[in-house]
Amino acid sequence: MCEGNCENCKNQKVETDPKRRSFLSWSVGAINLAVLGGIFTPVIGFIGSPLRQKPKDDWIDVIGQDEIPVGATREVRFKAKVVDGYQTVTREYVVFLKRYPEKIVAFDPACTHLGCRILYKDDQKKYLCPCHGGVFDEDGKVVSGPPPRALTEHAVRIKDGRVFVDRRLTDAT
Ligand code: FES
Repeated sequence: MCEGNCENCKNQKVETDPKRRSFLSWSVGAINLAVLGGIFTPVIGFIGSPLRQKPKDDWIDVIGQDEIPVGATREVRFKAKVVDGYQTVTREYVVFLKRYPEKIVAFDPACTHLGCRILYKDDQKKYLCPCHGGVFDEDGKVVSGPPPRALTEHAVRIKDGRVFVDRRLTDAT
């Protein structure tokens, strides 16, 4: 009769050794985690990358302050790089800058009715919307037509004689 020293009994002991079984379980678990992490980390990173991008500095140098006489309105075009989904693209923007004695205001060119591009008529000192006849005065306030509110503004900063416009809109008022 075997007393536990034959090859069969030794192999059986090895297979049922709790330390070895535990070690194998942890090893398999660690390998599975490594494989799943290797698969899902890049996928999650790719999907979430637009959310992690910090907002860029959106202040754009658009014109010299002295290029706009007090009381005048100027249409100014500028380009800015913006993140659009997963790519960075260059977009062209337009603002109307009105210079007051104490400040400069930047009006967005989108009509507040349905977003058509407004035109500034210097001889009338008015903004006209070609779509449904909306009219705004030179301060951006509604004169007539369907627009429900005044023109939307962009924030403006003046530094060292240069006018900087934030390409993002301020909250509609
Ligand atoms: S979009 Fe300007 S009046 Fe309708």
